[in-house]
Amino acid sequence: MKVQLKNSVYWVGAIDWNLRDFHGYITGRGATYNSYLIVDEKITLVDGVKKPFVGEWLGRIKQIVDPGKIDYLICNHIEPDHSGSLPEFVKQFPEVKIFSTKMARAGLAKYYGSGLPVETVKTGDTLKLGRKTLHFLEIPMVHWPDSMVTYIPEDKLLLSNDAFGQHLASTGRFDDEADQEEIMFEAQKYYANLLIHLSPLIQTILKKISELKLEIDMIAPSHGIIWRKDPGKIIQAYNDWSLFKAKDKVIVIYDTMWKSTEKMANTLVHAIANSGIAAKPLKLRENHRSDIMMEVLDSKGILIGSPTLHRNIFPTVADFLCYLKGLKPQKKFAAAFGSYGWSGEAVNNIIDMLHEVQLDVIDPGVKARYVPDDSENSQLLSLAEKMVSKIRDKKE
Ligand code: FEO
Repeated sequence: MKVQLKNSVYWVGAIDWNLRDFHGYITGRGATYNSYLIVDEKITLVDGVKKPFVGEWLGRIKQIVDPGKIDYLICNHIEPDHSGSLPEFVKQFPEVKIFSTKMARAGLAKYYGSGLPVETVKTGDTLKLGRKTLHFLEIPMVHWPDSMVTYIPEDKLLLSNDAFGQHLASTGRFDDEADQEEIMFEAQKYYANLLIHLSPLIQTILKKISELKLEIDMIAPSHGIIWRKDPGKIIQAYNDWSLFKAKDKVIVIYDTMWKSTEKMANTLVHAIANSGIAAKPLKLRENHRSDIMMEVLDSKGILIGSPTLHRNIFPTVADFLCYLKGLKPQKKFAAAFGSYGWSGEAVNNIIDMLHEVQLDVIDPGVKARYVPDDSENSQLLSLAEKMVSKIRDKKE
């Protein structure tokens, strides 16, 4: 069945129902690699698919045109989930011309050798296909240096590559054919795990799109569903996420050895919740770091707990902090806690890392020797109170 976005514009991508790990990010609902076919005087493909899906991709293209008649292939981004299919396409159909940014051309040569027929384009360049025109807009570092988007003004259609995507395999291709909660959940998880550290750049690009006064009535990303009913919804969400707007919510991320740090986590959760602020414990051995990052995105407060093991942070907590440091969420209150036996370095080490992430560290941290006693529990209650006051006083 042909999937048509606009007159003569089709989805010809691939559905990866079984993908559960996208370079370390858990993709519980699978993924899609979206590719778009524009049938005009110059027949054009926008983006490819991951290498194992070449057959599925060519099969979809063949339902519409003979792939040998494709004139142009636009490579918006070189990461192999989009470009992995390009060498095979060029091998079978060597007449095609590829268009990408200068950075992408260099990257494609590193991945696949210099045999691909690539011409470069830059922001402001256009490519006339016949009735339709492609406008190119580079978006360097959102999320790779080579990234760009392609806009078709005649259709008010933005082919946004990774931006505005979600990892979600589905039979429906459009937002009005899918569960809204599920789409926004996956879009938020995608932003939190791939884009949150690029938030200042995303703000700049959203402003640029607004200054260019691009009329957009459909956004077709390269992953997940196509926003045709309400593209404004995802643009608004990106604006909010990139401004670090968050809920009055605290997440208590921890791991535990003999349940003392877990007791501390539960004391904090109950104290914060009893003050009327949403709170949630997230044990690291039971929750994947990519699921936790989604909760970090919409929480105003983060508390991190670790027992001291071998004079350092417990390994699962250290793993999470390393991930957090790379993704660098901002404008959040943070603190640390944890149990120890004789030296208690973990809490201090966590605090150092929270400073490195540039979070707003609100407390020197609470330590409990072996098992939290009354005095240590009372320090936890003070920390909970401090967090609640910070959140109540925070102005957006
Ligand atoms: Fe979907 Fe950056 O690749």
